[in-house]
Amino acid sequence: MDIDWSKLGFSYITTKSHIEFEYTDGKWNDGKIIEGNPFVSMSIAASALHYGQATFEGLKAYRCADNKIRVFRDIENARRLNASAKYACMPEFPEEKFIDAVTKIVKDNIEYVPPYSANGSLYIRPVMFGSGPVIGIAPAEAYKFIILVIPAGPYYKSGFIGVDAMIFDDYDRAAPNGSGRYKLAGNYAASMTAGKLAKEKGCPVVLYLDPKEHKYFDEFSSSNFFAITKDGTYITPLSNSILPSITNKSLIQVAADIGMKVEKRPVEFSEIDTFAEVGACGTAVVITPVNKIHRCDKVYTFTSDASNGFLVKLYKELTDLQYGRTKDKYGWMRLIE
Ligand code: PLP
Ligand code: COI
Repeated sequence: MDIDWSKLGFSYITTKSHIEFEYTDGKWNDGKIIEGNPFVSMSIAASALHYGQATFEGLKAYRCADNKIRVFRDIENARRLNASAKYACMPEFPEEKFIDAVTKIVKDNIEYVPPYSANGSLYIRPVMFGSGPVIGIAPAEAYKFIILVIPAGPYYKSGFIGVDAMIFDDYDRAAPNGSGRYKLAGNYAASMTAGKLAKEKGCPVVLYLDPKEHKYFDEFSSSNFFAITKDGTYITPLSNSILPSITNKSLIQVAADIGMKVEKRPVEFSEIDTFAEVGACGTAVVITPVNKIHRCDKVYTFTSDASNGFLVKLYKELTDLQYGRTKDKYGWMRLIE
């Protein structure tokens, strides 16, 4: 193992192991830890391959200031995984089994949890997919649930300096009554062309509007959207085509507790001139400031004051809690013993 902790980004590396469970004859087995992350096997007619019957999650374990390792709100990921699984007709994975699997795989890969000083984390990626054969469109009979881990740093190279976002009026990632509120693998495949086009134009991230009217903000390809208005209100969209972000839910609580006004409601694009700061929030991106939003030939600019803005204040509140620098007053951090 030879990792330069000061250069951590967000990319796949082979770690010590992953954990793998199989679902056959209507039940999950006890799972096993597999060393060296070899390829996973499945039917050539697996429903995941042909019909995208797959869902994933993302969460993080932190080495805290007291050198102990804690996982952030993993019960929420267990619940969301099951909501997505249900939508795609996959079996439920028991919550206690999920928590236990997270504990086991973090412990087995303990040397991949970045040191406290690196400001990184162990990114934990659970994935459930139909591994059994189907040819007509139908749920598979057999499934796999795996959890892999990677040491992770910032998702975007620019980190807290921020990114530019692109809105396309000819691409959506989700349908009005579709799967956008679940973490289905196919949602991400559906966002790749727009993502590629945006990158070619210098924008690392796509910002989606509501797919019905393109009148309201929805979310980014990798994260939720929130804005701080010029009068200091935290606003974030209420929409049934966006993923219920655990980070956003946490920030809403933190923002309210530090005395900010919080609004979760449909947010019209026409309100853009009332925004002082715009942020992307999620497990991978944490809080990433959005400096500019491009739409057609127009560019909207925001200035997140890196020393004194609300974004930086919220970032500090959240990461102080995650790294154990402040008291875990919400009980969000689970100690890995
Ligand atoms: N929205 C999308 C499309 C995502 O992929 C993610 C990442 O998981 C989020 C939002 C943020 O969710 P969370 O804060 O639970 O990681
Ligand atoms: C996460 O933040 O965990 C995500 O899943 C977003 C992205 C890396 C797909």
